[in-house]
Amino acid sequence: MRIDIITVLPELLKSPFDASILKRAQDKGLVEVNIHNLRDYSTNKHKNVDDYAFGGGAGMVMSIEPIHNCITKLKQERDYDEVIYMAPDGEEFSQKLANQLSLVKNIIILCGHYKGVDERVREHLITREISIGNYVLSGGELAAAVVADAVIRLLPGVLNDETSALSDSFQDGLISPPVYTRPAEYNGWKVPEILLGGNQKLIDEWRHQKSLERTEKRRPGINKN
Ligand code: ADE
Repeated sequence: MRIDIITVLPELLKSPFDASILKRAQDKGLVEVNIHNLRDYSTNKHKNVDDYAFGGGAGMVMSIEPIHNCITKLKQERDYDEVIYMAPDGEEFSQKLANQLSLVKNIIILCGHYKGVDERVREHLITREISIGNYVLSGGELAAAVVADAVIRLLPGVLNDETSALSDSFQDGLISPPVYTRPAEYNGWKVPEILLGGNQKLIDEWRHQKSLERTEKRRPGINKN
């Protein structure tokens, strides 16, 4: 898989891809992440990528030209399955969407800033808009890193224990059951007896029951859509 991220703040995206699982996935050649500085695509002598909003009002708007230049150049080099714009009013990100995106080959992610992008970018250049929640971040970079992380860890070979992504919360519409490790008693707080008994069938049933209870309590609507 290849992910191209377009941003005005490349430095903000460096560290998430430079450590741990995301770094290992790239080192193993399972994913290629390329970060593009939008300013490199400005034809303006000051390398501006934004301008005042038509009709007035506070806040700058990201201009269409450098975005169009960057997306066009990338598309000339290869085909893209999705051109995603990170936006607080986009489709809400979910495990289901992460699963879908993990199956595609090439994606572009555009990070917004200031008041957002010229609406014509959304109308003509973008195939999908994604929000990571109903709150406003200073820019789309952290949201793009969230989406990329959730997608990359699903790619075959990225996680050491292949089954661990399958047993994640949300993967099967259920919240994961509680987990414990040694010591079996700490400060008088005990690990549930059943987990210590070694009867795998009973343990599996107990875990499934806890998953159902947690899902009902914490995310009762999770399987409604
Ligand atoms: N950009 C700013 N806020 C955002 C959010 N909540 N999700 C995605 N992109 C954003």
